Amino acid sequence: MSDLAGKHVLVTGGAGFIGSAIASRLLERGAEVTVADLKPSEDPRVESVVGDLREAANVTAAVQPGMHAVLHLAALTSVLKSVDAPTDFHTTNVDATAALLERARSVGVPSFVAASTNAVVGDVGRERITEDLPLRPLTPYGATKAAAEMLMSAYSACYDMACCPLRLSNVYGPGMGLKDSMVPRLMRAALTDTTVQIYGDGQQVRDFVHVSDVTDAFLLAMSAGWSGPTIIGAGESFSVLELLEFARRVTGSELPAHHVAAKPGEMPAVLVDPARAQSLGWKAEVSIRDGLETAWTFFRDLHAADATGAGG
Ligand SMILES: NC(=O)c1ccc[n+]([C@@H]2O[C@H](COP(=O)([O-])OP(=O)(O)OC[C@H]3O[C@@H](n4cnc5c(N)ncnc54)[C@H](O)[C@@H]3O)[C@@H](O)[C@H]2O)c1
Repeated sequence: MSDLAGKHVLVTGGAGFIGSAIASRLLERGAEVTVADLKPSEDPRVESVVGDLREAANVTAAVQPGMHAVLHLAALTSVLKSVDAPTDFHTTNVDATAALLERARSVGVPSFVAASTNAVVGDVGRERITEDLPLRPLTPYGATKAAAEMLMSAYSACYDMACCPLRLSNVYGPGMGLKDSMVPRLMRAALTDTTVQIYGDGQQVRDFVHVSDVTDAFLLAMSAGWSGPTIIGAGESFSVLELLEFARRVTGSELPAHHVAAKPGEMPAVLVDPARAQSLGWKAEVSIRDGLETAWTFFRDLHAADATGAGG
């Protein structure tokens, strides 16, 4: 499919896990892609703007006149680290977003789609999270994403721009070799025959959405001009213990587990309602079983490449 031929799209954070999947998909569909990130993209087909988006010159170089859209994924992403370094999170996740929005407005980019999170609403127990809940973030990470959403709301309202924060649940899939969330920890433990740590009783539930479904959401939001916060999740949550069982089946490993103290501030449940995105034509297509297979293949290949010294 080359329906995006002639369209120039910026992907900030496009050298990271989700951003690199989005950049690849854009290229497959014929778009011209610029990636702006602290590190260079590994894909030789993109133009790379390497540098810190907190610096004005990098924002100017990244957001170019005539661009079709900015897909903004660059961010500091660790909820726990945000508690220790709130200022860094503010400058990266809020100030850089403000600068990108302003540059996009000034050169006339019509669509701005950014990665947000359900952490903007804080802990709502087992209530299903919708876009209608009030913003009550409980960490600096959640607060910076909520602040970025507020800026996007104002830019949508005041200027001729469609700004859409996509509130992603737990994203997993191929390409997450540098991540430290539950799925990569399970995959690494299966490869190295080590024990998995389960925080608390393991009954905490999470919504897992595959990176390929998230990529679909970014491209659809961009093409259809979505505006306003939109939840992107599977709509079905599993406990950590259930995820462990799925991983045992997919990897064929025993994956012995031991329980350690729960992490402070960890939410007992995250259940999301993706009805808005579904009404706009998006749907999670990848089942947890098939999705874990793709992650397992990726981690096995990475492990084999590392073992032969072919890894990067
Ligand atoms: N992974 C998830 O489950 C998840 C869930 C909800 C939201 N998100 C959001 O999705 C986005 C992408 O997450 P990811 O999992 O791919 O993370 P990632 O860490 O793999 O990618 C983030 C990228 O941003 C870049 N970056 C960070 N600070 C920068 C700066 N100052 N200037 C330029 N580049 C900078 C990093 O180098 C990295 O390549 C983030 O905004 C994150 O908050 C992720």
